[in-house]
Amino acid sequence: MSTPLSPAIVFDPVAGLHTREISHRPAGPGEVEIEVRAAGVCHSDLHILTGDWPSDRPLVLGHEAAGVVASVGQGVTALKAGDHVVLSWFAPCRRCRKCLAGMAWLCTGTRAVANTLPDGTTPFTDAAGEEVWPYLGLGAFTERLVVPESAAVKVPDELPFGIGALLGCSISTGVGAVVNTAGVRPGESAVVIGTGGVGLSVVMGLRLVGADPIIAVDLSPERLAAATRFGATHALDGATTDVAAWCQEELGGVDYAFEAIGSPKVIETLPAMLTSGGAAVLVGMAAAGATGAFDLFDLADQGKRILGCNYGSSVGALDIPKLARLHLAGRLPLDELIGTVRPLREAAAAFEDLRSNVGVRTILEP
Ligand SMILES: NC(=O)c1ccc[n+]([C@@H]2O[C@H](COP(=O)([O-])OP(=O)(O)OC[C@H]3O[C@@H](n4cnc5c(N)ncnc54)[C@H](O)[C@@H]3O)[C@@H](O)[C@H]2O)c1
Ligand SMILES: [Zn+2]
Ligand SMILES: [Zn+2]
Repeated sequence: MSTPLSPAIVFDPVAGLHTREISHRPAGPGEVEIEVRAAGVCHSDLHILTGDWPSDRPLVLGHEAAGVVASVGQGVTALKAGDHVVLSWFAPCRRCRKCLAGMAWLCTGTRAVANTLPDGTTPFTDAAGEEVWPYLGLGAFTERLVVPESAAVKVPDELPFGIGALLGCSISTGVGAVVNTAGVRPGESAVVIGTGGVGLSVVMGLRLVGADPIIAVDLSPERLAAATRFGATHALDGATTDVAAWCQEELGGVDYAFEAIGSPKVIETLPAMLTSGGAAVLVGMAAAGATGAFDLFDLADQGKRILGCNYGSSVGALDIPKLARLHLAGRLPLDELIGTVRPLREAAAAFEDLRSNVGVRTILEP
């Protein structure tokens, strides 16, 4: 028995971005049904619209969301109806070698990146009975969805849903890149290139751990102003500054260079920004199949490192509640990351907010 139809923001290669009425099946064993209360609009949704990451099937977009548990399937013990949860798009299987080794962000059992639930199915169908697939295993730009228990992380009821939504992707990724992937220590220097929702979270993470100086680089003056509010000590216009030359002349190279755009051209410039032994952290996600070139002698000779960063090397069940607690204790100004709040039907305008590189994160509310 499926639920009544409700609107969802769907993308398919033929119709493009559109609103479609969908319903979902009830939560099965080990699954939970979630009522979505807030969903952020992340560049990883935009990668689908631009064709960077091609999909041959209709997808319910949205992978950065928070809500309330509506019902739980058989065998679910960690959650109950009424719990407030953050959805984690990298739902770990908890059984593979990576999960057992504590590296849930490298889980090989999840099917999230194939845009299905772990059993390869979708909970969504449209009015014509056609299957519609959950982007990154969630599909959060709708009113209700069904996910495996491991994709829903319980958070305190007092945490606002908008902040919870951003904890599901940009904040966990950005702060995690600093704390988990790079392990930045107090007094180490860092440059952050691209200060959208993810890059601003990197800046926040750097301030949290006491990095200094923190150099933000973007093309948008508004984004640079936001980066300064979040703790950047320097703001550079990426269009007119040779960032590598600046880092070498002013600082003798930085300890860490974070890329939060997904631009092969920018990624290729990272090692030249580093001091010897420094690390480039690839947080931005390039288009499928993109490649890059580096000065290989310099990398080996100077002991420079390149670190990939999926989901901020986070274990959602541990890191999301930790970040929520830091916010509630006044240590992370996560509320300042929330920009325009729009109803779900304004999804197209929300994507324009993202494309125009102004303001901070847009939140959609069903
Ligand atoms: N590693 C992960 O697990 C993970 C998680 C979430 C998002 N992402 C990726 O992170 C990237 C950023 O996501 P977002 O939502 O913050 O995007 P966004 O669009 O909000 O921000 C990107 C920023 O980069 C700036 N920019 C673009 N070109 C630039 C250039 N040449 N020089 C300097 N700045 C430039 C833009 O002005 C913008 O402010 C995307 O590729 C996204 O897919 C990765
Ligand atoms: Zn995202
Ligand atoms: Zn796993």
